[in-house]
Amino acid sequence: MNYSNITHAAIKAAQKAGAFLEARFNTPHTIHLKEGKQNLVTECDTMAESIILSDLQKEFPCHNFLAEESGGKTSSSDISWVIDPIDGTVNFARGIPHFSVSIAAYKENEILSGVIFHPITKELFVAEKNKGAFLNGTPLLVSEVKTVDSALLATGFPYNIDQNPMNTIDVLSSFLNRGCPIRRFGSAALDLAYVAAGRFDIYFETGIKPWDVAAGVLLIQEAKGMVSKWNGNPYNLLDDSDILATNTILHEEMVELIRKGTSSWN
Ligand code: IPD
Repeated sequence: MNYSNITHAAIKAAQKAGAFLEARFNTPHTIHLKEGKQNLVTECDTMAESIILSDLQKEFPCHNFLAEESGGKTSSSDISWVIDPIDGTVNFARGIPHFSVSIAAYKENEILSGVIFHPITKELFVAEKNKGAFLNGTPLLVSEVKTVDSALLATGFPYNIDQNPMNTIDVLSSFLNRGCPIRRFGSAALDLAYVAAGRFDIYFETGIKPWDVAAGVLLIQEAKGMVSKWNGNPYNLLDDSDILATNTILHEEMVELIRKGTSSWN
């Protein structure tokens, strides 16, 4: 595929960090707590992030960078990178082989490039604006499932549950009460990539950060899926913490079901 130099650099950086993480997977880790009781960071998050940042900053010294562990570096460039060195840190720390490296670049709120790499399965999800979404080079398309009752849903739960006004419990129970199968695998980036690949039909979560979802949002859009806030309004990467991604067909129905599930809050 004839990708831009930005996408090529993101792929190289994700695979390099991924190789490091694969080598360190299932070895002992130093674990620290961030905010919340279960929001972990290991020495590998920091090291993988340094690998990614040093390569990208060498190649694009003028760009802006927002990375999960080290924060931001701003410049006057209109291009910004968003980096999650390990999306699924809890899984990684416990030797569960489901985590990913997620890297995206955006310009004026438009995501240009998104790369998600699963270091254990070696699945490489790549999307570039207007060029489509791919899994190891094969084009991706969302599923054609037509009703929420026949859909497979993925979600995650916020770590800061005490302070989170949009906690997922009410919404979750409304789907459980309908008998919908729901997965909570622990990597939002992979949840989104799996919706783009048609493995899941729906993903929704609140308490999400830009680095968890930036690359995945573009994958969904390029695989002909739809992304919004829970209420159906446009999702803004830097401002919004609730996100709904579907195969497009299910979007309206999901917005309505979430509205009903959250109506007790009003
Ligand atoms: C977490 C994962 C998880 C999601 C959390 C995220 P991290 O990212 O994406 O699936 O439920 O909200 O914070 O902390 O492993 O990079």
